[in-house]
Amino acid sequence: MSIQKVTVAGGGVLGSQIALQSAYKGFEVTMWLRSEDSIARTRPKLERLRGIYEQTLEALKTDPSAFCRGLTDSPDVPTEELDELIAQVGVAFDSLVLTTDEQEAFGEADLVIEAIAEIIDEKRTFYSSIRDLLPERTILCTNSSTLLPSAMAEFTGRPEKFLALHFANNIWKQNTAEVMGGPQTSPGAYQAVVEFARAIGMIPLEVKKEQPGYLLNSMLVPFLSAAEALLANDVADVETIDAAWMLGTGAPLGPFRILDIVGLTTAYNIVAASPAAQEPDSTAFRIAALLKQRIDEGKTGVNAGEGFYKY
Ligand SMILES: NC(=O)c1ccc[n+]([C@@H]2O[C@H](COP(=O)([O-])OP(=O)(O)OC[C@H]3O[C@@H](n4cnc5c(N)ncnc54)[C@H](O)[C@@H]3O)[C@@H](O)[C@H]2O)c1
Repeated sequence: MSIQKVTVAGGGVLGSQIALQSAYKGFEVTMWLRSEDSIARTRPKLERLRGIYEQTLEALKTDPSAFCRGLTDSPDVPTEELDELIAQVGVAFDSLVLTTDEQEAFGEADLVIEAIAEIIDEKRTFYSSIRDLLPERTILCTNSSTLLPSAMAEFTGRPEKFLALHFANNIWKQNTAEVMGGPQTSPGAYQAVVEFARAIGMIPLEVKKEQPGYLLNSMLVPFLSAAEALLANDVADVETIDAAWMLGTGAPLGPFRILDIVGLTTAYNIVAASPAAQEPDSTAFRIAALLKQRIDEGKTGVNAGEGFYKY
């Protein structure tokens, strides 16, 4: 099927990136937000992203190292073409429709990408609430980091057109899209999503069977959890743990810088969902408490200007 109208549900860290990136690549994008307050919180995120896209393309005129795989096909783009792409960022930004109206958002969508909070009951409730609004053709994707399509499929009413399309954060440069179906996902829907991912400048990574955490998070979540445990158990401080990783491996970022990019809310939701987090003597409990304390202080990561570090 051909996808043209895309609706992104949720305007958080990832929802805003997916929406702008899809519009930048020429799709008609609507963002569904659950309240006017949520719309007001989404706009500055989109404006920040617009600035990043425009500045990156501007920098590429003189600096090939500014190349981001999601924005251009190669670092070698003539200035006039870069000017057209910069204009395209503005066109994409202006074209985004932000609405709380479910009929407007879902009634005509070819593809819906769900990027709401990583809480299974909230995702299930969301799918149940939109299932009767969607046209029959609509393919529904979750951007969930840790939940399996099969855990949510029955709530969508369209298990054969439901699958996971999982982006990495900062999708204009970390441009992977992990595509993972559930047992009932049809090959046609799967292939359409692989093609859509490619069309918005992502590199589709095909996951052959359901795997919690897909490829990236099967590696990243245990890594970040290990760093959080070191902090929660007072083994070392944030800077020292990051230094151990960066100096020891040559990696450009340590785990707490990565957590600030991921956003502390998502990190909290992941640890809080583990049974161990209910046990006051457990490391998971202490990790949840330290993340919660920062979140309550408004230090939710790069987007908020402060997480474990100040920005
Ligand atoms: N942050 C990352 O690095 C990252 C990477 C890949 C995938 N994801 C996944 O994307 C999804 C969203 O993550 P995020 O980091 O953008 O979260 P976020 O907290 O930044 O944003 C969540 C958005 O969903 C809205 N929302 C929350 N609960 C809702 C509900 N019940 N109904 C409707 N809207 C609701 C919020 O208002 C907000 O707009 C999660 O499933 C997460 O696992 C996150």
